[in-house]
Amino acid sequence: MLVFSSAKELLAALHPPFTSLGLVPTMGALHQGHLSLVERAMKENSHVVVSIYVNPTQFNRLEDLERYPRNIEEDLKTLAPYSSKAVVYAPTDEDLYPAGIQAKSYAFGTLTQYLEGAYRPGHFDGVATVIESLFSKISPTKAYFGEKDFQQVQVIKALVTLLALEVEIISCPILRAEDGLALSSRNVLLTTVQREAAPKLYQTLQTIIEKRNQWNVQEMTAHFFEQIEAVANFTIDYFAVADPKTLEPVDQLFPSKSYRIFVAVYAGATRLIDTVEFHRK
Ligand code: PAJ
Repeated sequence: MLVFSSAKELLAALHPPFTSLGLVPTMGALHQGHLSLVERAMKENSHVVVSIYVNPTQFNRLEDLERYPRNIEEDLKTLAPYSSKAVVYAPTDEDLYPAGIQAKSYAFGTLTQYLEGAYRPGHFDGVATVIESLFSKISPTKAYFGEKDFQQVQVIKALVTLLALEVEIISCPILRAEDGLALSSRNVLLTTVQREAAPKLYQTLQTIIEKRNQWNVQEMTAHFFEQIEAVANFTIDYFAVADPKTLEPVDQLFPSKSYRIFVAVYAGATRLIDTVEFHRK
């Protein structure tokens, strides 16, 4: 596996111009969810770059940044089967943030006003800053993002429009463990007991989806709180039913419309998020 800490050296080694260059931005601690993005990128491009960088500017809590799992050696082994087309960009801070590690400030309107935007102040400015830097250094044809972070995908699409970039944003479905828990790098931080309880999140969302035509938003919210608050050491950050385009929470559901449920829950100190879409009859 070729690994570069400098984007310049990486691009020189790939011998541009490429037919198409796919970029998969990650923060490492790779799992099957990340690999589903890499596999899609492998299919759709002549060259693939997987970036691995735990981006400090998107963490609004120092404790979260410090606890974030890091295992580059293991990640490189995981990516070895893709080395025919893929290389790794594991940048130094200076390479991605030449002017110092600082987030820029963007105007994303309602897209960053609610959900993660409201509960993790500054998070999306940090994400957009690092993605803007990655896009300008790598100039990918296509970039791959997971719907597990649905709001992030919408923000990146808005960033591309805002900056009039050429890159195509590809949104990929959520990969889940067999028991339904959305795969996440943070899952390794769960204790055995928390990991066993964690599928309750998706199970509860599934029940709500089954009742989508009978329940109103208040009943959906009440069911979620009742189920999740009953789990020891689980606390709810938020539960919201939102418009999938504007990401504005709604309190009323209309027929023939699509909605998305967004949740964030603390299992002890570990924050889990999930999202599911539903359509009203
Ligand atoms: P990270 O959490 O490492 O995720 C990297 C990419 O993998 C994101 O696009 C994320 O949505 C996707 N992903 C994670 N879990 C997934 C799952 N279970 N199914 C499908 N896709 C999944 O998201 C980030 O890093 C950062 O914010 C980043 C975009 C790299 C900017 O720093």
